[in-house]
Amino acid sequence: MPCDRIWTNARLATMAGPGLGVVERGTIACRDGRIVYAGPTDGAPAFEAREIIDCEGRWITPGLIDCHTHLVYAGTRAHEFELRLQGASYEEIARAGGGIISTMTATRAASEGELIAQSLPRLDALIAEGVTTAEIKSGYGFELDTELKMLRAARQLGRSRDVTVRTTFLGAHAIPPEYADNSDSYITFLCDDLMPRVVADGLADAVDAFCEGIGFTPSQVERVFTRAHDLGLPVKLHAEQLSNLHGAALAARHGAMSADHLEHLDDAGIAAMAAAGTVATLLPGAFYFTREVHLPPVAALRAAGVPIALATDCNPGTSPLTSPLLVMNMGATLFRLTVEECLLGVTRNAALALGLADEIGTIEPGKSCDLAIWNIEQPAELVYRMGLNPLHARVWRGK
Ligand code: NIG
Ligand code: FE
Repeated sequence: MPCDRIWTNARLATMAGPGLGVVERGTIACRDGRIVYAGPTDGAPAFEAREIIDCEGRWITPGLIDCHTHLVYAGTRAHEFELRLQGASYEEIARAGGGIISTMTATRAASEGELIAQSLPRLDALIAEGVTTAEIKSGYGFELDTELKMLRAARQLGRSRDVTVRTTFLGAHAIPPEYADNSDSYITFLCDDLMPRVVADGLADAVDAFCEGIGFTPSQVERVFTRAHDLGLPVKLHAEQLSNLHGAALAARHGAMSADHLEHLDDAGIAAMAAAGTVATLLPGAFYFTREVHLPPVAALRAAGVPIALATDCNPGTSPLTSPLLVMNMGATLFRLTVEECLLGVTRNAALALGLADEIGTIEPGKSCDLAIWNIEQPAELVYRMGLNPLHARVWRGK
């Protein structure tokens, strides 16, 4: 079998099932950036490879996928963190004009180059832990120039590194000061002007919104989703983070790829997600950093067969986190996910949450050859450690 490169003498966690899809003595072959063989070395076809890489018994997983980030932004919110340490809540800070709006001010003021320069270290931190695909949202502009600038910056970040970037238009993240007393008019502007322009410039792969007391109402989200459908973009939603507005069920009704956060999700929302095939993206970094105590209903999601993804939610206010490995540890420790669920959460189910299940997320023939090669003795080590990065090498599209 002709191919460009093979990785051999490896232990594989293909994540293609059953379980982790473990192959103890495995080989992966790649041609034109795609996997052409992944399985036991014994009985593999005879390869004519230009390069053979001896993995010396290391473990290989799919390249990790961070399916929910706000990593393009300017400034920090360290001062708000200090306020919260003194007792202020995230909601209080937001209602006093801080929070997302303070990042909006910094992001509006930054040039596109500054925005890229400030965001690149965050992307590099993800890459350093084996990430080969990251989603990046807009949502700190709320005006045409800044929303476009954020999405262009995100696309440019993807071009400047060996990583796949998927962009999401999150114009409905907060109500900008210009529309403080008239959020419905902001939604009209978003649907009539912002979103069509984002689509015309080809800058978004999906549309997201924040359904919350300090964000947008379900009926406003419905308008955003309806417009997204008209324009041909898939949707997802920040739902049930601080309260239960039944956003997950709304998202499921609109065929959303994922509903995210979900600490306050109820049984009806779970049933709706299960029926629609909507992924539950859990964000333990935000849960931890806001000192949330209301756990997402993991056992009920599991029982209903809802696929669970895990992501950093990298953002300056509720989750200044750039470690997918720590996300897995938090998923296990805080949310009681199993090792297998944590690993699926940053591979196969994260791919599903991005609508990329045919392309990435498992090590299978036909998929993009995106791999992470680890210095570990067993896959549980990827979930178990806090702060040690055992990545040996990362492969993106076969290189
Ligand atoms: O996912 N919940 C809304 N959005 C972000 C927070 C963004 C921010 O505070 O800047 C989140 O937690
Ligand atoms: Fe978020």
